Amino acid sequence: MSILLGDVFPNFEAESTQGHVTFHDWLGDSWGILFSHPADFTPVCTTELARAASLAPEFERRGVKMIALSIDSVQDHEAWTKDIQAYRDSSDGSLPYPILADPNRRLAVQLGMLDPIERDRTGMPLTARCVFIVGPDKKLKLSLLYPASTGRNFDEILRVIDSLQLTRRLPCATPVDWKPGERVMIPPNVGPDALAKHFPNDVEVTMLPSGKPYLRHTEIKD
Ligand code: BEZ
Repeated sequence: MSILLGDVFPNFEAESTQGHVTFHDWLGDSWGILFSHPADFTPVCTTELARAASLAPEFERRGVKMIALSIDSVQDHEAWTKDIQAYRDSSDGSLPYPILADPNRRLAVQLGMLDPIERDRTGMPLTARCVFIVGPDKKLKLSLLYPASTGRNFDEILRVIDSLQLTRRLPCATPVDWKPGERVMIPPNVGPDALAKHFPNDVEVTMLPSGKPYLRHTEIKD
């Protein structure tokens, strides 16, 4: 099954390091991020989970609840947590987010996360590195899919959350390599009334050979 942008994210149930999770109840009215991992006690995953834990205050500041998933048991996740916390020099015994257990790959199949190439030592498929960002309306806002061999960039994930939240609030789009505080773009479907209402600052139109005035930048007040 693949989940498309705008789909209501499946209301799955699973055990986790913080107890039983029913996804929609767990999410409540918040944004949420679900990031999956190929397996416990693996090197790249350990660095990713450590980085995610260190950035937890940044996700919280944006109102985004975090949840991880790996195809192993809660017991394995708890033992692995000690390694992750030692790796990031934390004396805290738990991570600031739950890790979902998926020992039978039930969720990996349901959420379309199995990596067709990477296998464990017994030849069983592993989970790819997926990122799902879900809005307060429980709908999928963004998905990323990386192979097991490539670790993700959590700074980029925070950047896309900033863009998703801004473009939900204002009828704008964020250009290539945009960072919070930089100018945004006005999409072609935003007409003069919406422009005056939402973007009182100057709008700069860059003229191009086509003569069509579609490339519009503006500053926004936050
Ligand atoms: C890792 O997390 O290091 C990893 C896991 C599975 C395959 C390759 C790398």
